[in-house]
Amino acid sequence: MSLAATLPEVGESNVASARTAWPTLDGKIGGRTVVDGREFIMFASNDYLGLATHPTVLARARAALDEFGAGTGINPGRAVTRIHRELSEAMVEFTGCEDVLLFNSCTAANCAIIATLVGPTDVVLSDELNHASIVDGCRLARGRTIVYRHCDVTSLRRKLTAASRARLRLVISDGVFSMEAEILPLPEILAAVQAAKGVLVVDESHSAGVVGIAGRGSAELYDISPRAFIQTGTFSKAFGAGIGGYVAGDRDLIAHLRLRARFFNFTSTMPAVNAAAALGALEVLRASPDLPARAKANAGQLRAGLEQRGFRVQGGEHHPSTLVLIGESARTRLISRVLFDHGVFAPAVVYPVVPENAARLRLQVSASHTDSDIEAALKAFDHVRPARKR
Ligand SMILES: Cc1ncc(COP(=O)(O)O)c(C=O)c1O
Repeated sequence: MSLAATLPEVGESNVASARTAWPTLDGKIGGRTVVDGREFIMFASNDYLGLATHPTVLARARAALDEFGAGTGINPGRAVTRIHRELSEAMVEFTGCEDVLLFNSCTAANCAIIATLVGPTDVVLSDELNHASIVDGCRLARGRTIVYRHCDVTSLRRKLTAASRARLRLVISDGVFSMEAEILPLPEILAAVQAAKGVLVVDESHSAGVVGIAGRGSAELYDISPRAFIQTGTFSKAFGAGIGGYVAGDRDLIAHLRLRARFFNFTSTMPAVNAAAALGALEVLRASPDLPARAKANAGQLRAGLEQRGFRVQGGEHHPSTLVLIGESARTRLISRVLFDHGVFAPAVVYPVVPENAARLRLQVSASHTDSDIEAALKAFDHVRPARKR
C-alpha cells in the first residue's frame, strides 16, 4: 500500500490547492506586501501593530545580530544572553506577572505548561475551539483531557464538578479565538475556575499588544488582576519579532518550568536577534500607545464599509481580526481569488479548519494599513457579491 493511500481524507479541492497555491513573499510584510512579484493589500499577516518592519525593531535586531551572532548554540537551561534577561524583565512589566520564562514559540510554551503540570492524577480542561498547540499540549498530558463547549461557562462548570476528585484542574483557553474573531469571556470563566479551586491558563497570543487600550491583553480589557491566571503568548504576532514565546506566572511556577519543562530544557530558546526585536516592539509600544487603537479603528472602518455592501461581518471591536462570513468553501475560495486578482490578499478559511459550510474570509487588519488601503480593499469587494441570505 502506498503512503498516500494511508493519509486521512482532507477533500480533493484542498489537496489540489495545497499542491498549487503556495504564494511567495517577495519582501517585508506590511499593510502592502509584494507577493509573487505583485503588490497586495495584505490581510493575512498577524503583524497587528505594523512592528515587524518598524525601524526601532529592525535596529535592535541588527545590533543583537552583530553582538551575539545568529544563535548561541547553548541550551537555555545552561545560559541565556543579556538580551534574553532584559526581555524577561520587560515582559514581567508588560504582563504584570511575577516572573516570565521565554520559549522558542508559544507552541512550546503551551505544550510545556500542560505536559509539565498535568500528571496522572490531574485533568486538563480545554475549550473545544482552542488553538492546535493547546490540543497538542493536551495530547502530551499524562492526565485526562476534558473538552468543554466553546466559551460556555455552564459546560465548564459541569465538567469541573465531574473532575472534582482530580488533584489539579488546569483550565486552558485562547484569550482571543482569532478564527472566530471572538474574545474570551474572562470574568465568567475565571470565576468558574476559582470556584472549583482550579488553575486557569490564558493563551494571549492574539491578545498581547492588541487587546485593551494599552494592548496589555485580556486582564487589561476586563480590569482583572493579571496575577489571577497564568499567561502564555507569542512574539510572532503583534510584537512582530519573528519567533518566540513565553509563560508568565508566579515565581514558583516559572522556577518549576525552568527545571522540569522538556519544551524548555531539550530545545533551543528564541534567538537573541528575535528577543531584541521583541524588546524593540515593547519600546515602540510605550512610545506610541495609540497603536492598538489604530489597528482597531482600521478594522472598524473596514467593517463599516463591508456591512454597507451587504456582507455579514464578525469581530473588529476589541480586536482587529475581521471575519467575512460566506458559508460554502468553494464560493469562499472563489471570492478570495477574485479579491486576489484585484490586489487584495484575503485568505479563505475553509473546512476542515472551520466546520463545513462555515467558510469565511479572515481579514487580519493592522495599524500599518492606511485609510487608502482600507478604501482600496473595499473597492475590490465591489467585484464580489455578498453571501446569499439564509
Ligand atoms: C492562539 C495561538 N496560540 C499559539 C500559537 C502558536 O504560536 P507560535 O507561532 O509562537 O508557536 C498561535 C499561532 O497561530 C495561536 O494563534
